[in-house]
Amino acid sequence: MKIFISGVIPQIGVKMLQEEGYIVEEWNHSQPITLNKLIDKCKDADGYINVMSPVSGKFLEACSQLKVISTFSVGFNHIDIPTSTRLGIPVGNTPEVLSNATADTAFLLMLNVSRKAFFNYRRIIEGNWKPGFLSVDYLGQELNGKTLGIFGMGRIGFKMAEKCKGAYGMKVIYHNRHKQEQAEKELGATYVSFEELLNQADVLSIHAPLSEENEGIFNDSTFKKMKNTSILINTARGAMVNEKDLIQALQSGQIWGAGLDVTDPEPMKADNPLLQMENVAITPHIGSATVESRNAMSVLCAKNIIAGIKGEKLPCVVNPEVYKNN
Ligand code: 8YV
Repeated sequence: MKIFISGVIPQIGVKMLQEEGYIVEEWNHSQPITLNKLIDKCKDADGYINVMSPVSGKFLEACSQLKVISTFSVGFNHIDIPTSTRLGIPVGNTPEVLSNATADTAFLLMLNVSRKAFFNYRRIIEGNWKPGFLSVDYLGQELNGKTLGIFGMGRIGFKMAEKCKGAYGMKVIYHNRHKQEQAEKELGATYVSFEELLNQADVLSIHAPLSEENEGIFNDSTFKKMKNTSILINTARGAMVNEKDLIQALQSGQIWGAGLDVTDPEPMKADNPLLQMENVAITPHIGSATVESRNAMSVLCAKNIIAGIKGEKLPCVVNPEVYKNN
């Protein structure tokens, strides 16, 4: 059995695959793999671990012999799921194990923006920490007792809400496709309409998976409904936020600040105006980048692949409908 991995992942999962007797090849070049090269590597493979390369219909048709694909991520908006299902290929992902790390990143950005931490750090390294004490400049705002609005109350949104409630006693409101009983019971969270979420949140944190319906949903017209003291946090997918409109909303004071771990496109260009703004904190998509989380993602990918090769149901499958015809 041959397994191809389109990037380097923690070796713990690779070892699990090797212990099954599989031949494992990793793409360990600094440049991302091209589509042609990916097809070339996967056209005789049995399993494929995808490290954030697009999995297009063209790729899937060319490699339709694959018994299983696992993405090294919880998100799967970069994978053509309908085509995988039509071709009978189960696709696995890595939910849960990265929820804490990703929520930590959202929390880090929220706190960072609220105290302009990255901006203030830059003042030092750029030689702008001058003698004399500034009592009215670079002031942040406190989070105690503020209202946290969660857009997408899944596992990561829940963890973020739990942290914010625990640390700052924040009131939690959320908007989601369905009501979330656990969040209501354990965190006292209140379900609100999207409109109410925009109007009421002091911190609005995005945790929904990217879909056709929510692409660009944070735009000029939604920013206008937000408080001008509010902070927008995005650790989900960059494409949910219209970046041009966000820049405008921050410049005009429509909203107060933004913390982004995801952008569109990625990587963000170094001359992006957002990087110069006082009330903005940006990290380069490090949501799940902890030893604990990445190791667990590697193990889960290996488990998905092993199950798929054995013809068993994947522990975390994103297209369970693939099993319907079997
Ligand atoms: C991944 C992510 O770690 O899981 C996701 O959907 O966005 C990240 O946490 C990253 O995309 C690398 O696979």
